[in-house]
Amino acid sequence: MSDYEIRLVVNGKSETVTAEGGETLLRALRRMGHADVKLSCEGGDCGACAVILDGVAVNACLVFAVQADGCEVTTVRGIGTEDGLHPIQLRMIEKGGVQCGFCTPGVIVSAKALIDENPDPTREDIQRGLAGNLCRCTGYKKIFEAVEAAAGDIRKGDGA
Ligand code: FES
Ligand code: FES
Repeated sequence: MSDYEIRLVVNGKSETVTAEGGETLLRALRRMGHADVKLSCEGGDCGACAVILDGVAVNACLVFAVQADGCEVTTVRGIGTEDGLHPIQLRMIEKGGVQCGFCTPGVIVSAKALIDENPDPTREDIQRGLAGNLCRCTGYKKIFEAVEAAAGDIRKGDGA
């Protein structure tokens, strides 16, 4: 299979990678060192690999790397910083939306895309927005509460 040179802007930084035609964006990102994008089912079932691709949350395991050529990719590391956590991250901690944490990167990415598009989501909007993110620990209630609270924080101008 042929190799292709792919250019991505990952969390604001331009990067190139050589990928085979059949390689997924998930595999390519992880080879590039973006291990914060979690590799789990690789079948589009769990949402652990979610990234924001040109403004839209996608499962990186369902996108070929070549399809993302020239695109902007946001991973969980591009949301907030270690010294300045994003309101979604702060609220996930405060509300107990993080337990084992395996689902957390994908949940935060999906929640960010949801709030960017709909700053005042209802509980139903949040449930729908996170429907593709499986969590085996929290029972979802705490995650939904965290996203609801974070959206409120952002509307009030508390963080980005
Ligand atoms: S690893 Fe992509 S959806 Fe599960
Ligand atoms: S916190 Fe464990 S899977 Fe979500």
